Order: sequence, then C-alpha cells, then structure tokens
Amino acid sequence: MLKVDFHMHTNYLQPREGRHSPKAIIDEAKECGFDAIAITEHYIPASPFKMFRQDPLKTYRDFKDYAKKAGILLIPGFEVSLEKWKDVVVLNYAGDVFHIKTFNDLREIKKKHKGVLIFAPHPFFLQKNCLGKKTLIKEIGLFDAIEYCHFYSTLINRNKPAELIAKKYNKPLIGTSDTHKLYQFNHTYTLVDSKKDVNSIISAVKEGKIVLKTEPLSLKLFLYIMFMSIIMGARKVLLLTLAKIFSPQMFEP
Ligand SMILES: [Fe+2]
Repeated sequence: MLKVDFHMHTNYLQPREGRHSPKAIIDEAKECGFDAIAITEHYIPASPFKMFRQDPLKTYRDFKDYAKKAGILLIPGFEVSLEKWKDVVVLNYAGDVFHIKTFNDLREIKKKHKGVLIFAPHPFFLQKNCLGKKTLIKEIGLFDAIEYCHFYSTLINRNKPAELIAKKYNKPLIGTSDTHKLYQFNHTYTLVDSKKDVNSIISAVKEGKIVLKTEPLSLKLFLYIMFMSIIMGARKVLLLTLAKIFSPQMFEP
C-alpha cells in the first residue's frame, strides 16, 4: 500500500497561504514515510491578488524532479475556488487552468480527460469557501471522492457529515492534511493499493482501493490551529477590503 497525502500547500506561489517551501514539504513527506503527495496550490480566478490568479501547477512543474530524487511521487494538482468561493481540488490535470471558473468548466474537463480526479475538500467546514451540503449534493456527480480532513478533535469533528454523504453516494473517503503548516501533516492520510505512478493511484482511488488512516488532533493542537485560522481569516478579510479600497498591488507580498 502506498502512503499518500492528496492536499498540501506551500509558500512558493502564495507566501501567506503556506509557511513552508516545496522542498521542506517534500523532505518532511520523505521523513514520514510517504510515497506520494499532491501540492495543491490555490487558484482563485476572482481574487484581486495576482498571486492567486497565477498558474497553480507551477509548483508541480518546478519541484517534481526534486521530489523524484527524494523518492516521492509528486501528483499534479490544485485547489480552485469556483464561482468565486467554492473550493474544489483537481488532481492529474496538466492543461490550461485559466478557463476554469465554474462547475460546468470542470464537467467539461472531466469529459475530455478521463484520468482527472476531482474531490470535495473539507465540504462541511464553516469557512465560506467550503462547499456546504447544498452545493455538495447538487454537484455530487462531479466528485470522484470526498475529503476527510486532519482538522478535528474527539469533541468537534466536521468530517462526520462528509462521511455520511460519502457513504450515501458511494464515494471514496480520502484522508488528507490540507497542510499549510507542517504540524498539520501526518495525522490523516490515505493508503492506496496501487503501483507508484499517478494514473494508477488515481484509478485505485476511483475504484475505492484505499484505506483512510486518521487520528484526532489533541485538543491543544486543535484549538491552536483553530485560533491561527481565525487570525489568518481575519487578516485575509482585512487585506481584501483594503485591496478593494486602494490597490491590490499594495497588499501583495
Ligand atoms: Fe487547501
């Protein structure tokens, strides 16, 4: 079985989104015994900030050889905010991303590229960029899998409704970290019964040949991550507001 994380971020294209470089992420994955990871930088077509509108697959292209030397298979992927604020993760698509803005655009991609895998990241988390029940069910046909995210504790677990929807619609439930900082990594991941190449891994996920591996965060770490995401969220709202009033360039790093 391959140890895989399908959802991670770095500071390469968007310094405020990830704390660590792609090399640091790959090195940590090697240290933790992973076989494959997907670095899924954000692509937000409606963002006023240029860094979120650049090609998110640049990180994959620039670091796949470094990963290969480290023995880690890098899976091409990105996290796109559709129809302004609905996040979806797309794996194994290497074409032009700049025309992707709506759920329909992704449906067209799936028709043309059979190897693409689309999953719903943290659909029941409370941020406005999460899909929520209504959109997830409306678009359920688009999704090959649903995410079980690392961010939960024994007291609070917003993955539970995602688990129920996955069961109801017979979708594989994949464990991911959505790492922005490395202390989020290696608590939740996926074991995949597959050969170590991207197409085989994608096919195995679609066929449900996976095992979700997960453990709840300690309450202390859970509260710390929640506190940090509230601070980061507030900073994002402030920067967006200032960028709208003044100029986005003034607030790019
Ligand atoms: Fe993410």
